[in-house]
Amino acid sequence: MRKLFVEGGHPLKGVIRVSGAKNAVLKLMAAALLGHGRFVIRNVPEIRDVFTMLGVLQALGVEATLNDSTIFLNVETVRGEAPVALVQEMRASIQVMGPLLARLGWVRLSKPGGCAIGDRPIDLHLKNFKKLGAQIREEHGFITASTNGLVGKELYLDFPSVGATENLMMAATLAQGTTVIHNAAREPEIVDIQNFINLMGARVYGAGTSTITIKGVTQLGGADYAVIPDRIEAGSYLIAAAITRGAITIEHVIPQHLTAIVDKLQETGTEIKVGTDTIAVRGVQDLFPINILTQPYPGFATDLQPQYMALMTLAGGSSVIKETVYTNRFRQVEELRRMGADILLDSNAAVIKGVPQLSSALVHATDLRAGAALVLAGLAASGITEITGLDHIDRGYEKLVHKLQTVGGRIWRED
Ligand code: UD1
Repeated sequence: MRKLFVEGGHPLKGVIRVSGAKNAVLKLMAAALLGHGRFVIRNVPEIRDVFTMLGVLQALGVEATLNDSTIFLNVETVRGEAPVALVQEMRASIQVMGPLLARLGWVRLSKPGGCAIGDRPIDLHLKNFKKLGAQIREEHGFITASTNGLVGKELYLDFPSVGATENLMMAATLAQGTTVIHNAAREPEIVDIQNFINLMGARVYGAGTSTITIKGVTQLGGADYAVIPDRIEAGSYLIAAAITRGAITIEHVIPQHLTAIVDKLQETGTEIKVGTDTIAVRGVQDLFPINILTQPYPGFATDLQPQYMALMTLAGGSSVIKETVYTNRFRQVEELRRMGADILLDSNAAVIKGVPQLSSALVHATDLRAGAALVLAGLAASGITEITGLDHIDRGYEKLVHKLQTVGGRIWRED
């Protein structure tokens, strides 16, 4: 069985360079399906989700390669149907639906499966595709969307869903007339997609605010673009420094994307210095227990909640974490308890009573960010923690073991 071993108790020291953002690059790859011609996407993290999306694009008829952190695509004719196995492997595959519907007038994908972090319906995507003029059929485990031509509309999202905002924004670029998405998600990755598709020739304005306006065009070309840094990877390493009482500088970040986590870490007493594209963090011995509430951006990112929880298990008192984005994102709790954490769960809230020390255990990563939380806990615990479920961690952290080793982390894997 593949395993990660983490020997705790060694403060991390040094510099870590942050990779390109997983949650941006996957959508840029999907957005390329709207265009014709050649694409170069730079600063690409070499992680499992990116390889899965490359497979999806190839299955759809795109020439797609990844070399040295750079993706090369040649998009000419594309198909409207991707293999079930690839779509089910990664939920983000659903992001090809908007581009294919807009380009081909037809798309058929298998329904995304269940998810370890809670109920994740795509009703907001489908409801609003219908408003743009699509017919949706759901049968035999597949979703088929078809249209005689999408027409721009005023749309309102009941919740600022990241995926729905992106899917609708991409579909609307080739619709006839103007689409306005109200209560849109404001995540930095959505701004990245806007910048990318505008380079392709789209006319999209307002990403980063809650109102996005898309003026439809008839055709889109290629683009050469570099992905923004991964704010979740960056946040995970900030917490790694804090939890090991180390001193790390993370470089190649956009600090404005990290204000919520930086602010909360400072409240815990952790020392932080923000530069232009760097953040230096120095951990302290006594951490104050600080509550958080996860929210859509610019609120505290749900994707950093499990890692932050790992930190709070060692704070000097009790803190409360309330999860408002997902219904069931506390799968890390059982595993952290195995390592000696004192955590009480009550529906979407967790009360974490800090303990003086965590101890190593055999634990399982149930999903990507829960896995990251266990790595962080392992770096601080006494003894050698063994983590299974590496497939999840490999989905989203580029060269995790190598990056942690370069700052003195005692971590290795057995494949
Ligand atoms: C994206 C990120 C994920 C992050 C999440 C929230 C990618 C590949 N993934 O996921 O890492 O955790 O944003 O920041 O970018 N919802 C509905 N109906 C819908 C769509 C969403 O009820 O049609 C609900 C979901 O069940 C969830 C919440 O809205 O509870 C947030 O989902 P959403 O913002 O859509 O997340 P994703 O785009 O799937």
